[in-house]
Amino acid sequence: MKTIEVKTGRPYNIYIEHGLLSNAGKYVRNVSSAVRAVIVSDSNVAPIYAEAVDASLRENGFETSLFVFQAGEERKRLSTIEKMYSHFYEHDITRTDIVVALGGGVTGDMAGFAAASYLRGIDFVQIPTTLLSQVDSSVGGKTGVDLPTGKNLVGAFWQPAVVLIDPDTLSTLPGKFFNDGMGEVIKYGCIRSRSLFERLEKENAADIIDDIIYESVSIKKDVVEHDERDTGERAILNFGHTFGHALEKLYDYSGITHGEAVALGALLITRITEQKGITEKGTSDRLLALLKKYHMTTSTEFTLPQITAATRGDKKSSGKGLNFIFLREIGTCFINKISTDKINDYFCGE
Ligand SMILES: NC(=O)c1ccc[n+]([C@@H]2O[C@H](COP(=O)([O-])OP(=O)(O)OC[C@H]3O[C@@H](n4cnc5c(N)ncnc54)[C@H](O)[C@@H]3O)[C@@H](O)[C@H]2O)c1
Repeated sequence: MKTIEVKTGRPYNIYIEHGLLSNAGKYVRNVSSAVRAVIVSDSNVAPIYAEAVDASLRENGFETSLFVFQAGEERKRLSTIEKMYSHFYEHDITRTDIVVALGGGVTGDMAGFAAASYLRGIDFVQIPTTLLSQVDSSVGGKTGVDLPTGKNLVGAFWQPAVVLIDPDTLSTLPGKFFNDGMGEVIKYGCIRSRSLFERLEKENAADIIDDIIYESVSIKKDVVEHDERDTGERAILNFGHTFGHALEKLYDYSGITHGEAVALGALLITRITEQKGITEKGTSDRLLALLKKYHMTTSTEFTLPQITAATRGDKKSSGKGLNFIFLREIGTCFINKISTDKINDYFCGE
């Protein structure tokens, strides 16, 4: 068992262990004296894993209920949250009860947001079952839903009471979602850990998945502890994301996955900063090779001017500018704010 303590305003532990899911109840009991626990899961994950989690919660004295929504980003909407609230109400969930998010990032973000807002806030637990949610979204307390006008536009910071990562769940995860998580893992290597990047180059990620999860979560924990509310350093976690979000928008949120878009965004921006002499020569070629190794998209039919135009309205805009994350070399990055009216010139000019 690996344990990581996250020292945010409200501290919590992250446990990583094979088979942890069927012991979930014990760990939830350690952080909660709740009478009732609501498992929130999606239509793909619930049939595989909800029974084991439910049994373990019951063994540990919780009265349980299960809320299942149709899987997919399209359901990450306020309409689903409203159904969740109704379920909570019908099952007599009180302020001292607990929500258990069992699934990927969509489940965690929504269950977390419902927990943050129902009765002005009840506890929740993250049991992430995708690589992306294990290395990224389950840690750090960002919760929320999409609006028709953009992703994650409504949300709240709400830290989980505990995060339970069981790498065994990845055995049922479709390959394309595994690769999607790899986009975030590669990001961590780029911004903070040359050694992680080099291991990904030399070894096969699936063979060292426990180490990858541990190291990725440790990097995220570190950054989140320094900047829980995302007003400074946490921006480095957005390496590749500004172009990535623009690409997702251009593909109408269907032609490219989030992780792929982020990885491609990272590649495009690093090519430019390398040409400008900001990033060490050869970095973008190494990144390209790594993306190819993990079967990720490495090109797009959209042009740079189209991509920079699509960054307009990015929710990470602040004041009159947008923060871009540039690499100095693999493992080292910095934040560079560019004013909105200069973005096109900066990236598309000579
Ligand atoms: N809160 C944050 O800090 C943060 C960070 C990054 C991303 N996100 C959000 O995370 C979401 C993406 O997360 P995701 O990629 O995990 O998506 P997801 O939750 O939709 O999961 C991907 C797919 O895998 C299925 N699935 C999940 N676990 C499975 C398993 N073990 N076996 C079989 N199938 C399984 C799901 O049903 C779904 O079809 C986006 O909405 C994004 O905005 C949030």
